[in-house]
Amino acid sequence: MRSESPEVAPGRLSNGSGAPCPRNRIGELFAVLLLILFAVELVGCPGGRVADVLALDGDPTAGEALYDEHCLACHGSGGVGTVRGPELTGWGAEAATVSVLLDGTEEMESYDFLSDEQLADLLAFMEELQAGL
Ligand code: HEC
Repeated sequence: MRSESPEVAPGRLSNGSGAPCPRNRIGELFAVLLLILFAVELVGCPGGRVADVLALDGDPTAGEALYDEHCLACHGSGGVGTVRGPELTGWGAEAATVSVLLDGTEEMESYDFLSDEQLADLLAFMEELQAGL
């Protein structure tokens, strides 16, 4: 006996459900895009701002004015320190300094409201303190 292979008209058994639904595809793409944006936000931005500040040439005179306004009360005249904040003369790591200013600490507020230019000015002034000028 010959076994008859059942003939199925193409398309009969598959009713088209295998075709991708365009709406789901767009949703997936959107989710992936959001994830990428989120990752860039997490990884890219803080480092980016530190790098932006470090790339600028700060003006130490403008930095001194900013220091007197924002920092003097705790870190003292010439960065010698007070009971409210440590001395800053031995503080040299620039990227770490900018990070401290942007992020703040438990005892010190964040100065991320200052512009990149102002932070670069502060850094230039602190470099002078460092050099004992
Ligand atoms: C309310 C007081 C206060 C003010 C205002 C303040 N700081 Fe601070 N700062 C501190 C204290 C306290 C620490 C150290 C303790 C800590 O890590 O929280 C510190 C730490 C630092 C450090 C890290 C130094 C180290 O040895 O850990 C730097 C750099 C710094 N401050 C710079 C500044 C600058 C620049 C300003 C002005 C824009 C400023 N601070 C304003 C209190 C202050």
